[in-house]
Amino acid sequence: MQDPFLLFDEWILLEKQLSNSPISMVLATVGEDGRPAARAVLLKGYDQDGFVFYTNIQSRKARELAKTPYAALCFLWPAHEHQVRVEGPVSLISDEEADAYFASRPRERQLGAWASLQSQELPSRKVLQQKYKEYEKKFEGKEIPRPPHWSGYRITANSMEFWIGHKDRLNERILFVRDEAGEWQKKLLYP
Ligand SMILES: Cc1cc2nc3c(=O)[nH]c(=O)nc-3n(C[C@H](O)[C@H](O)[C@H](O)COP(=O)(O)O)c2cc1C
Repeated sequence: MQDPFLLFDEWILLEKQLSNSPISMVLATVGEDGRPAARAVLLKGYDQDGFVFYTNIQSRKARELAKTPYAALCFLWPAHEHQVRVEGPVSLISDEEADAYFASRPRERQLGAWASLQSQELPSRKVLQQKYKEYEKKFEGKEIPRPPHWSGYRITANSMEFWIGHKDRLNERILFVRDEAGEWQKKLLYP
């Protein structure tokens, strides 16, 4: 198999057969101080162009991505002893794509996006609840537009590595790297 996305599709299918939960991934960024930072986000779409997640674009991760627009993703699927690592450059998605996804979200999530100053200090939970109520009132009976501080990012894979656990513990690692022509090159790594 020369295309890592065919394998990724197969593995996603296996996870979806196990559970209806959304697919999450660990997103690692480079901190403003050059140190790594990691957190989970939801995978909201992927194709050959990259892996998309949505977030507050004033959050810590967004500030870090503005300074160093590269990220690493890690998908961990213990039931199948699978791990996928993805690395590559990151870009903001288009306003049209972000608008369309925001419009598809449940109303309470849309309000939550308005109410949360993600990653800033919150004096108390009450403050967040009040802000949520304020926006609920503001948008009562109206369509909720996408907040200017909320959008999505796309991580374009330069490399994808698949790890497969085996009973004899001679585990398997398959690394796909995109060459300069954009073609995927495949090799095995010692586990
Ligand atoms: C399973 C899971 C999924 C999450 N999905 C998202 C997400 O899609 N977008 C997001 O902004 N935060 C998501 N979060 C919260 C982030 O892990 C993180 O706390 C938040 O984005 C702030 O990160 P930052 O301060 O590094 O920007 C998720 C958390 C968990 C546990």
